[in-house]
Amino acid sequence: MGPIAGWPAHRGAEESLKVIRSVFSAPEQYAICLKPEDKPIGAVGLLLRGQTDKTDREDECELGYWLGRPFWGRGIMPEAVREILRHAFVDLAMKKVWIGYYSGNNKSKRVIEKCGFTYQRTDEAADVPLLHEKRTVHVYAMTGEEWAARSV
Ligand SMILES: CC(C)(COP(=O)(O)OP(=O)(O)OC[C@H]1O[C@@H](n2cnc3c(N)ncnc32)[C@H](O)[C@@H]1OP(=O)(O)O)[C@@H](O)C(=O)NCCC(=O)NCCS
Repeated sequence: MGPIAGWPAHRGAEESLKVIRSVFSAPEQYAICLKPEDKPIGAVGLLLRGQTDKTDREDECELGYWLGRPFWGRGIMPEAVREILRHAFVDLAMKKVWIGYYSGNNKSKRVIEKCGFTYQRTDEAADVPLLHEKRTVHVYAMTGEEWAARSV
């Protein structure tokens, strides 16, 4: 499912291993594991200042995620997003969490809507650096106040 999220499909296990050791091992990147086996089936994480083009503030970050195709449609990502939002606002004292989806990625749009993010803007011709192309990205955000109001 890489291209819809903005990265090329892996060409083999060795490339996947490199991604696991670099991208997935960066700070604030987490595996999503299926209970009770503790089997990793996806990832959710926060891109901090310097890793995201959505903000240059230390108290803001961007949320990203993916889930293995066999596990889609069970509400797993909304559950993971709710927990990482709690972590971002409570443990890391973030003021705002950004998120975006590329036009056509309606599954991600639904997760963003169900989790209560607020639409901010649409950027035409946003860079997709890993695929060397441009796409339309729809940008949403949630403030700490908005999160707290939803969590009571
Ligand atoms: C986006 C993604 C994380 C959704 O996770 P999820 O746990 O399946 O989320 P949900 O179960 O809440 O489903 C979200 C929507 O996807 C759609 N959907 C889910 N499973 C589907 C399937 N098998 N076929 C078609 N549509 C499906 C539904 O419209 C659902 O919305 P609904 O609850 O209003 O019916 C997952 O599809 C994914 O990993 N996609 C590829 C990577 C990606 O796009 N990452 C995000 C980049 S911004």
